[in-house]
Amino acid sequence: MDVRIAPSLLASDLGRLREQVEAALAGGAEWLHVDVMDGRFVPNLTFGAPLIKALRRFTDAPIDVHLMVVEPENYIAEYADLGANVFTFHPEATVHVQRHLAEIRRRGMAAGLALNPSTPLSLIEEVTADLDLVLIMSVNPGFGGQGYIPQATGKIARTRQLLDRHAARATLEVDGGITLDTIRAAWQAGADTFVAGTAIFGQPDIGEAVRGLQRQCRERA
Ligand code: DX5
Ligand code: ZN
Repeated sequence: MDVRIAPSLLASDLGRLREQVEAALAGGAEWLHVDVMDGRFVPNLTFGAPLIKALRRFTDAPIDVHLMVVEPENYIAEYADLGANVFTFHPEATVHVQRHLAEIRRRGMAAGLALNPSTPLSLIEEVTADLDLVLIMSVNPGFGGQGYIPQATGKIARTRQLLDRHAARATLEVDGGITLDTIRAAWQAGADTFVAGTAIFGQPDIGEAVRGLQRQCRERA
């Protein structure tokens, strides 16, 4: 099983964005995870288009945008034009989910759905063919630095089964509280892409932090 690390820029020092992003990529990180929050779907406000624009000025790395906003469909065209690669939204935040997934793909991005800890997996069951990615939240979204909710591990395993049952090739990403202590269980349950904020940018050596997370999945217990 692959181990793709997607550092969450929410935990980075925005004043040193370029330096920190380059350190993470040099350490082997593959995607750049951008957490867009609107103060309505989640009780916090972050960033959006200007950050994507800033990233695109100095890196070609895939930009993995996670929208925690109501009516995420309003941003599909804009983020596609700015060069975002993955567009993941919460089905809890909108109505016509299948239409939006199709539109994301039509615009050339990978289409993802994110599920809150309390949201049942059945929400993705009818749209597995329209999905490039499923994001299982292992915290309630809104803030970095929270603890991994242990029930997420079983949910990841059930998501893997559901995707296999539908012969769906979607990426299985996990987000929230991923650390040296929690990543291995998520990986063994079947996740292949790991968002980590604090566990990367909260460390003195960013590149080594990325490598350490990867090692937890590759080494024997
Ligand atoms: C939470 C965000 C996460 C967050 C992860 O709402 O979706 O991407 O930044 O941060 P850590 O890794 O610190 O839990
Ligand atoms: Zn996120």
